[in-house]
Amino acid sequence: MKIGSPEHRNIFCRHFHDTYTEYDPETLPWPELDEDALKRLKSVPFWEEVFYTERRAGAIVAAFTETVTDPILKKAIALQGFEEARHAKLIRVMIDRYGIDAAERPLEDVSDDVETRFKDFGFGECMDSFLGFGVFKIAMQSQFLPKEMFQIFETLMYEETRHIVFFVNWMAYAQAQKGFPARQVLPIVSFYYYIRALLRMVGTARRGKELNDGKEFAATQASVFLDGFTFRRFLEDCYSENRRRMEAFDRELLRPSFLPQLADAALSALRLWSLRARRPLPA
Ligand SMILES: [Fe+2]
Ligand SMILES: [Fe+2]
Repeated sequence: MKIGSPEHRNIFCRHFHDTYTEYDPETLPWPELDEDALKRLKSVPFWEEVFYTERRAGAIVAAFTETVTDPILKKAIALQGFEEARHAKLIRVMIDRYGIDAAERPLEDVSDDVETRFKDFGFGECMDSFLGFGVFKIAMQSQFLPKEMFQIFETLMYEETRHIVFFVNWMAYAQAQKGFPARQVLPIVSFYYYIRALLRMVGTARRGKELNDGKEFAATQASVFLDGFTFRRFLEDCYSENRRRMEAFDRELLRPSFLPQLADAALSALRLWSLRARRPLPA
């Protein structure tokens, strides 16, 4: 199958529809939380940001859908928009149900230059998901919340994985349509957008710190979560979880490769470094 061909488009769009899951956030099996678990859930400092991000995602994808003329692509992108809006609803239901302190911030205007917004958003999702895979694994292993809660978040994680697989295929397809035939998204293009995503992430973290002053992630809560935490272990979890989750997808589809390759290189360097550090000094 040639990347950028109508066959490629049909496969990644069909796969996206075939892996759709039907559910209503209101009727998910939300567990009763005991006092400690509730405290831990409420102590997470980023719910307001996640809520905002999902609402913004829904708005961007919906705006982009309007501009797409190919009916097959349009239908698939519309489905992603629907799923992003449902993520926002899921977070809203959780905030209301457990009484989490997370305000609904007014959305920014997303009506200009929607294609660039969609690309920025797509690469941002690739980055958030790759890091999110590691965070999710560590949080689950440390039993930060009951497993019923993680099962609910798992639905969301799976959908984000589908989104990024869809996105890199769409990106490579769109690139080929513009006359840049390649087997994948051009690395220089990925690099450009990941730098932008990284800068936005730093900005968000900085803003979050200002906003969260006074309601910091309590040291006791963080220690449950971060027990035995090292950067290397985190990166290993991101990498292996990404690999495990991506295995569920059709072999024919492209999958995000830029960050996994970067992490692989960084991990090899870290391994080499610790091997050298452990080697006894010559007598
Ligand atoms: Fe989402
Ligand atoms: Fe998404």
